[in-house]
Amino acid sequence: MKSITDTLEQRISQAIGKVTGQKGCPALVSVSKNPKFGDYQVNGVMAAAKKMKTNPRQLAEQIVEELDLDDICQPPEIAGPGFINLRLKDEFVAGRLLEINSDKDRLGIEKVKMPKTVVVDYSGPNIAKQMHVGHLRSTIIGDCISRMVEFEGHIVVRQNHIGDWGTQFGMLIALLKEQYPDILENPGSVEIADLEGFYQEAKAKSDNNEAFTQTARDEVVKLHNHDKDTITIWQHIVDESRKHYLPIYQQLSVTLNTKDERGESFYADKLADVVEQLKAKKLAVESDGAMCVFPGDFKNKDGEPLPFIIQKSDGAFLYATTDLAAMRFRIDELKADKIIYVTDARQSLHFQMLFETAKMAGWTNDDINLMHVTFGTMLGTDGKPFKTRTGGTVKLKDLLEEAVQRATAAVEEKNPDLPAEQKKQIAKAIGIGAVKYADYSNNRNSDFIFSFDKMLAMEGNTAPYMQYAYARIKSIERKAEDNGVNTQNKLTGIKQLAFTEEAEKELAKMLIRYDQAIAVAAEECRPNYLTSYLYDLAQSFSRFYNACPVLKASSDQRAVRLLLCDLTARTIKHGLTELLGIEVVEQM
Ligand code: ARG
Repeated sequence: MKSITDTLEQRISQAIGKVTGQKGCPALVSVSKNPKFGDYQVNGVMAAAKKMKTNPRQLAEQIVEELDLDDICQPPEIAGPGFINLRLKDEFVAGRLLEINSDKDRLGIEKVKMPKTVVVDYSGPNIAKQMHVGHLRSTIIGDCISRMVEFEGHIVVRQNHIGDWGTQFGMLIALLKEQYPDILENPGSVEIADLEGFYQEAKAKSDNNEAFTQTARDEVVKLHNHDKDTITIWQHIVDESRKHYLPIYQQLSVTLNTKDERGESFYADKLADVVEQLKAKKLAVESDGAMCVFPGDFKNKDGEPLPFIIQKSDGAFLYATTDLAAMRFRIDELKADKIIYVTDARQSLHFQMLFETAKMAGWTNDDINLMHVTFGTMLGTDGKPFKTRTGGTVKLKDLLEEAVQRATAAVEEKNPDLPAEQKKQIAKAIGIGAVKYADYSNNRNSDFIFSFDKMLAMEGNTAPYMQYAYARIKSIERKAEDNGVNTQNKLTGIKQLAFTEEAEKELAKMLIRYDQAIAVAAEECRPNYLTSYLYDLAQSFSRFYNACPVLKASSDQRAVRLLLCDLTARTIKHGLTELLGIEVVEQM
């Protein structure tokens, strides 16, 4: 089914069009902030009136005359300078709930009619290094975006643009060769258990040892010339790194797979052509020995044009060159209609210049939507960039372990008698869920203070709160079953619903807005819109549950209320597990 806002938007826009004789005047329908003024508010009349140079209130009256929303709303009311307030009819709300109820998988939410191909570029760890906390945000925010866009019905192509081709590989290959002179005989036998330690060792050596530095440099050249032995060792390092980051994806329930990997190395043989073509188009010019494009009006702090460097004077290609090649690949080969890049805000300028350069080169055009989704820095509770006690970067693995540990202690305290296996499962759901949810619920552009205490709190907009809201409903359902009320069969059979209490209606109206919450969150790539909705829903449920006894109600009322319980649980579960990748538990 179509979302209510979309239906209202369409019908009202039509009415505005009819009255004004103008096409394309949006109705601008939004959910009312205050239920006193109805459920939805039409904000578009003022703009239309301004265009027509007429009185907005009178125009609103004419539009209301023209409007036919009888099947959805009570008679519209005009307010203030020309707002139109709409209140849904109970029958309409009830009908919607039944439609949602009868659709097990998609909760009544239709797929888009015209699917687009959307490339989502996220995570992108630099391999041969342990994934650190900075990669957490890109990984999970990108994953939620992919899940939402996919759920809407678009074709999502996940791309993990891993950093697997940098000069750092020279020293890693050199060190591996030095430590394991026989490595080429059986590379698989060499395990790099401590990836970070290995990287540090190589780095220390190349800082202090002239001869080693030279060998490392030679290895980079060999790598870029596809020397067979060097490539074998490089491949081994890549494989070893993968062993470190794939389990983290798994632990985080992130949908990235090996098949989504298309790292920098993939584009290596396409870079010379990028430079050649930009030269041929007279966009790339030499400046201080380097090949540069000067896209748009970007200026440095002295007011001079800012170069987008695509080849250094020694012939080396750069991050920018790879991104240009990747964009061409995604548009030409993957047939992207939209490309979403998820990285921290410090890369903003890079992506602005990238988009502008690609446009100048004619590699992209206005039909292709390029979007850089940025996020702020993760801070410690002291407000400074998140570090370990000794000032090192926090490894993601350690962080997740600590979260689960803390959740284990909380479960142990609350529910010492549960079977050990169940306690473990609950602790994992809460611990990992808390880390993810805290990030999601934050406006992604703000810096974000990482606090275990806050994210594991049972109060406020946290994972444990949402998980508890779900588990609580499940316990109500279990109780109903214990009392001989068959919840499942009964609910699917319900054909008619009548609300008796305001709190029931309020909750029902929240439930039928889930599709809208997803649409807005997906459009703007903002998971926090989804978490806010889920939190509002849980709170609305609490108000309902306080006001309306479920098990003690008359049998008709009980059926309605059990249905509301069930749909709330299903919505929360869908949001958490399918879209945010956070587990729920039946009991907490
Ligand atoms: N490897 C990069 C980093 O760690 C992120 C890659 C983002 N994607 C891209 N197409 N540039 O900063």
